[in-house]
Amino acid sequence: MDSVPTIHVLEKADYTKQHIVSLPNALSLPPLAPFSVRVKTSLISLTANNLTYARVGHLFGWWDVHPLPPSIPDTFKDASKYGRISGWGYGEIIESNVPEIQTGKQLFGYIPIGTLPVDLEVKLPGAKNQVLVTSPHRQRLLPIYNRYFLALSKAENPAPATHLGYDSLMQVLFETAYHMNRHVFAWDDTKRIHPTGAAALPWSPSDAALTDATIVIFAASSKTALSFAHQLRHNRPADAQPRTIIGVSSAASQPFTDATGFYDRVLLYADQEAARAAAASSPKVVLVDFGARGDALATWHAALAPSAAQIAVVGVGGEVRPMGAEEVTRARLAREAALSLVQVNASGLRDKALEMGEEAWLEEFLAAWGRFKDAGGVPGVELRWAEGMEEWAKAWEGLAQGRIGPETGLLFWL
Ligand SMILES: NC(=O)c1ccc[n+]([C@@H]2O[C@H](COP(=O)([O-])OP(=O)(O)OC[C@H]3O[C@@H](n4cnc5c(N)ncnc54)[C@H](OP(=O)(O)O)[C@@H]3O)[C@@H](O)[C@H]2O)c1
Repeated sequence: MDSVPTIHVLEKADYTKQHIVSLPNALSLPPLAPFSVRVKTSLISLTANNLTYARVGHLFGWWDVHPLPPSIPDTFKDASKYGRISGWGYGEIIESNVPEIQTGKQLFGYIPIGTLPVDLEVKLPGAKNQVLVTSPHRQRLLPIYNRYFLALSKAENPAPATHLGYDSLMQVLFETAYHMNRHVFAWDDTKRIHPTGAAALPWSPSDAALTDATIVIFAASSKTALSFAHQLRHNRPADAQPRTIIGVSSAASQPFTDATGFYDRVLLYADQEAARAAAASSPKVVLVDFGARGDALATWHAALAPSAAQIAVVGVGGEVRPMGAEEVTRARLAREAALSLVQVNASGLRDKALEMGEEAWLEEFLAAWGRFKDAGGVPGVELRWAEGMEEWAKAWEGLAQGRIGPETGLLFWL
């Protein structure tokens, strides 16, 4: 490495306050520990999910995955005020003392935002191309953040750039939606899993049933929501499908969302009355929240519950705005209590799916993901490729300020 590394640093209390910090003293790097790899981020994406990592980081340990490095300038040393979150994408192996992982190969997974390499202690669980991180400071993380997929080097990989872009942009978001369709709303009862993945919590066949239901999907323009709507229609037997899938979005996002063709109707956050008839004629209404704006989830629930034979609320995402740690925690608990909302946990779902058979999971999930990419992904999404940390910072600001619409897929070569 010859140039000075830079990293993305956020003010923990307000993710709109960001800094691209140069680390002239970071080099040279210490010798690599045994059974470790040194990884440098090569391709990384940016979606609202990254903003979630900052907003809810205090609850899930996300600030601690890639800690402030020892070489951080004094201005940013205070870890109670400053921190780093991470993103999804590919990192290049620049050094390795693991014989099965050669220099030049890529790892797909949860990677740092910056050009400073990270060292990972790893083990190989045996399943094809799977790498698990064993670094002690990461063991309290949810397992999804410690699992990587070993991929070919950039030069060897025959996949088109759009496929690599889609992997980075939404493989993990699609996976959450895939598990919700396959396991939370399981049509095959042997596959049924509670939305959190917790075996001890009740989630009955009737909770999982969607046949003839009306599904209302909030923040329908988000990539995770679009993946869910897609899977409900394209990866589910016809006789287990919902009757109507209604998307709910902002006025700015509505034309794009409608044009994807993934929803039967796309309404606005204030249009709850327009959904009453569909809700009243279905055996069941399920509200699925990927990050509704304002109090839309509560107002829709109040409008539809009186005439619905049965109503359930499943939470996936939260409103996209900066909030302090206390406000986030309070808001999460309040909506869970007020709406009997059950929260999805992507990591818990994957863990339980893996227990049903790791090789089968890999094969089935990757096949579904491959079909989605081969069919062109989300109609209307344009991949916007940029290079370098300054471009990352500009896009971060644009997304946080609401200036980047759902039709733009943000990707960065670092
Ligand atoms: N629970 C889990 O395990 C899990 C797993 C995966 C994802 N998630 C969550 O799912 C949610 C969706 O993530 P994503 O990455 O798929 O989102 P995304 O594609 O970036 O879309 C987010 C949506 O939020 C709205 N939005 C965007 N910027 C905004 C802003 N600055 N202010 C207000 N609204 C804004 C827009 O919808 P409208 O214009 O239509 O309102 C946008 O389409 C996130 O909360 C993410 O963390 C949770």
